[in-house]
Amino acid sequence: MSADLPNDDLSFDEIDELISPRAEETDFDRVVETALSRRGFLGGVMTFGLGSFLVGTTALTRDALAEGHADRFGFAQIAANTDDTITVPEGFEWQQVVTWGDPLFADSTSFDEATRGTAATQARAFGDNNDGMSIFTKDGRTVMAINNEYTNRKVLWGNNPDAKWATADDVKKGMNAHGVSIFEVARDDAGNWQVVVDSGLNRRILPETDMDLTGPAAGHDLLKTHADPTGTTTKGTWNNCGNGETPWGTYLTCEENFNGYFSAADEAHEVSAELARYGVSSKDWGYGWASVDDRFDVSKNPNEPNRAGYIVEIDPFDPTSTPKKRTALGRFKHENAAVVLAPNGKAVVYLGDDERGEFLYKFVSHGTYSAPGNNSDLLESGDLFVAKFHDDMRGEWLALTPETTGMSDAEIRIHTRQAASSVGATTMDRPEWVAVNPTKAEAYVALTNNKNRGKKPNAGGDDTTANAVNPRVENHYGQIARWMPDDEDHSSHGFSWNLFALAGNPDAHNDAYAGSENINAGNMFNSPDGMAFDSTGLLWIQTDGNYSNEEDFAGMGNNQMLAGDTVTGEIRRFLVGPKECEVTGVCWSPDRRTMFVGIQHPGERGNSHFPDGGTSLPRSGVFAVRRVNGGLIG
Ligand code: FEO
Ligand code: CA
Ligand code: CA
Repeated sequence: MSADLPNDDLSFDEIDELISPRAEETDFDRVVETALSRRGFLGGVMTFGLGSFLVGTTALTRDALAEGHADRFGFAQIAANTDDTITVPEGFEWQQVVTWGDPLFADSTSFDEATRGTAATQARAFGDNNDGMSIFTKDGRTVMAINNEYTNRKVLWGNNPDAKWATADDVKKGMNAHGVSIFEVARDDAGNWQVVVDSGLNRRILPETDMDLTGPAAGHDLLKTHADPTGTTTKGTWNNCGNGETPWGTYLTCEENFNGYFSAADEAHEVSAELARYGVSSKDWGYGWASVDDRFDVSKNPNEPNRAGYIVEIDPFDPTSTPKKRTALGRFKHENAAVVLAPNGKAVVYLGDDERGEFLYKFVSHGTYSAPGNNSDLLESGDLFVAKFHDDMRGEWLALTPETTGMSDAEIRIHTRQAASSVGATTMDRPEWVAVNPTKAEAYVALTNNKNRGKKPNAGGDDTTANAVNPRVENHYGQIARWMPDDEDHSSHGFSWNLFALAGNPDAHNDAYAGSENINAGNMFNSPDGMAFDSTGLLWIQTDGNYSNEEDFAGMGNNQMLAGDTVTGEIRRFLVGPKECEVTGVCWSPDRRTMFVGIQHPGERGNSHFPDGGTSLPRSGVFAVRRVNGGLIG
């Protein structure tokens, strides 16, 4: 039986919109009121928000230039383009490291364009649609851990009629293209980074891999299933988006749109309101997982979705270790996990929930880090907070506790969205990655876009009226906000904040949709998503947005990667990806002479042959960018 795939062109956001459509704004009076208050509000922002941001940036730019602030970039900006390749500045070069279907083991078979592999070959090869990634070194060996978020189904099953799955093996091949790929890398004689095929450190983590459920929710009734009556063990991870890494050398993989893989044999089956808040539904959105494994059938296993949506901690140097789902960090559509140690030694983890009008969170460990020492349980227990951004440029972390939410500690970790709604947190414009500046006590969040801002409530019915940190209704461009914790302590409860950049198009608009002053015709972009600091404090920004290069997006070209100077506010374009891709995932070799960049879903609409060219299939992959002269990057 082949799957019905009417929506295989849809992104997960669009799927969510179809699963749980929010009421359209129809009341004329409310529309007028919203428009008026928006005008008035933007005036207020100009006074308290954008105004101070723009003035501050301009002044900093001028002062910095007057003081001879050195060029922080070390590269000349490149122009936007719509080419089907990677473009980097003059003096840089790039090479392919690994692409979807590349073998990781001696018994793996090479990628076969004709069949696009089988479930068995995919389980021994690099997964599809790579996203967040980290690099680890130990005893002279270098290991990469890379998320394989989802799969480009029209390519994966493109050898079948209508590019849909036809057999159980097709479905399992799709499953095995998900998860995490861990493998050793080394430079060859030409200096190129290559996978060390069959290294003893290589590992695929799949939707079938055994995992532990740990922390406050472990063992709760909501996590118990027929297969696991204890609620403490589970299988696998999927839709792993951004990532994190800990000071104690573990990899964090972040479960994002986990909901899209559940369905029910009877599509009339109604899921609970608790599951609906997370977008779980009875409809099969084309992956067919419930057709091969009942645990993905929510009418038979209604608790199974409660066992996904977590941060998973993995030891990248022990292929026999059992990954641990850390329920203490909450359950939502996790983007990434930005870890920083507070002055008191507590591990602080910033966490975004990527859905329109959802929230920004912070975890603070109960224990403290010690080096050397055993830190392996630091993410086992801690306090969970959610952000409230006030319009006066102050903010606070609201504690999610039984007292503030009326929920138990376990329930807060399972129904985290509901807990955050109950305390009145600020609904955000789709929080993507958080990045913590290693040179200064501040953190940044990419708020990628939100067409529903000011138009529809979030999935829990919370108000999404424009506010100072999300200042534009129907926000198609996105913005980057930053906050400075009180006392330069990331574990403190208060912060001040401002906007680092409002993406926009100054050629197309004269209002707030033109963007902030540091956006110009030469560097414009939309939908900031991946984001990371290098060790020097330069902020690298990756985009996952509209690549039509037309109308509101004219002049932006393909998705791209930029760098931002957080002192002057200047932003420069560093890299342009191939057609119809998202640029996501970045890490550096320890000597900072190689930057690894992820290219996801090139040709998602069928118009790319990247990276191999000709008539080849487009394949996601990881690419190493270096200076031609071997110098430092950033
Ligand atoms: Fe997987 Fe929010 O991007
Ligand atoms: Ca993302
Ligand atoms: Ca995105």
